[in-house]
Amino acid sequence: MARDPYAFYRRLRHEAPLHYDESAGAYLLTRHAAVSTAYRHPAFTTRNYEWQLEPVFGRSLLQLDGTEHARKRALVSPHFRGAGLSAWTGTIHRNVAEILDGSVERVVDLLLEPIRPGEEFDILERFAHLLPVFVIADMLALPKSDYRRFWDWYTAMIAFLSNLARDPRVHDRGVAAARELREYLAPIVAQRRDNPGTDLISALATAEVDGHTLDDEEIKTHVTQLLNAGSETTDKTFGSLFGHLLTERDRYEEVAADRDLVIPAISETLRLTPPSQMNGRVLAESVELEGGTIPAESTVFLVIASANRDESRFAGAETYDFHRTDLSHADAFTARGEHFAFGFGRHFCLGAMLARSELQIGLDAILDRFPDLRLAEGFTPRHQGLKMRAPAEMRVVV
Ligand code: HEM
Repeated sequence: MARDPYAFYRRLRHEAPLHYDESAGAYLLTRHAAVSTAYRHPAFTTRNYEWQLEPVFGRSLLQLDGTEHARKRALVSPHFRGAGLSAWTGTIHRNVAEILDGSVERVVDLLLEPIRPGEEFDILERFAHLLPVFVIADMLALPKSDYRRFWDWYTAMIAFLSNLARDPRVHDRGVAAARELREYLAPIVAQRRDNPGTDLISALATAEVDGHTLDDEEIKTHVTQLLNAGSETTDKTFGSLFGHLLTERDRYEEVAADRDLVIPAISETLRLTPPSQMNGRVLAESVELEGGTIPAESTVFLVIASANRDESRFAGAETYDFHRTDLSHADAFTARGEHFAFGFGRHFCLGAMLARSELQIGLDAILDRFPDLRLAEGFTPRHQGLKMRAPAEMRVVV
């Protein structure tokens, strides 16, 4: 299953669309219509995040409900859409250029060299792992020289989130990383309260909605969530995107020649190979779905990776096709529920439009600079992971 979860999900869609998985101790929902219903159904709560996230994030947006969720989301959402988001476009362009020019060593101790023609390298290590974390660090005005610590912290915390087998070592590392990040943030939050700047931490420290403000612990929770949610998912989407475009290289040429295909190439990547492959929920009461009864208190996984490949929703659903007409590429980054890479319903991804900008600006720059980009001789991308999934490495030549 780890080698090809999609084959397992295909079987479930056809033979057991409501399946109790012994090893996960949870039900799996695999069809588009059922996943769509579950995301919006009031009985499907996000209480799973009490064990899946709270020990590392604190009580984050994902766990909240009702007016508390709406109020706290409203404090950050203006920075992730419309004019608030446009303000960060220059930041994304600058970071893309610094990483690709190799001029980034002036701000981080990475000693990146400029990429030279004929060179073979891992484009994930050299680009995709860096861009999302640099952008979010700039948005929060955190020093990029601390990049390695952010990387260590968020990989430990994402491993915690993906720890479905509840391995105690993964658990302990995640909890330790969260504690270190909160200790790191404490003086920064205090300083921004006294002396606010134009960054997101200052905005959170001074924001007010309906007379409510955020205390220091809540700000640290928001920052922890943004650093995590904004980094690994976008990074992994780049990995799958390069994989789709370079394994059949005509696709890379086609997108390079027609930049209107950049967004369709990204949204089709998110549909076919979503980085976050499933979201958990806990049932507040029993629910009838897919011809069966799911008892109250059950854990249910809404399998995004399967619903996005449901043949009753998408023609040629298991094929990568950025010309498909049954997916509105404009709506794929909004809460309209075309596919579920960003979830659906009230917890729909806050950062979907930021991710769209990073992926679009990043891919455009790569296409401009490296018209001859191709996979290294003999290299085949291998996807890894069940909860989060993407190629682990992408060796290329320019
Ligand atoms: C391609 C990149 C991304 C993907 C695939 C993705 C995926 C998701 C998914 C599936 C959810 C829903 C989780 C659930 O319902 O249980 C979610 C929620 C969320 N995402 Fe993203 N995400 C991405 C990028 C980002 C970025 C860049 C940020 C911010 C910097 C971000 C911040 C959030 C937040 C704060 C939530 C929780 C929203 C709420 O509970 O109201 N994400 N994301």
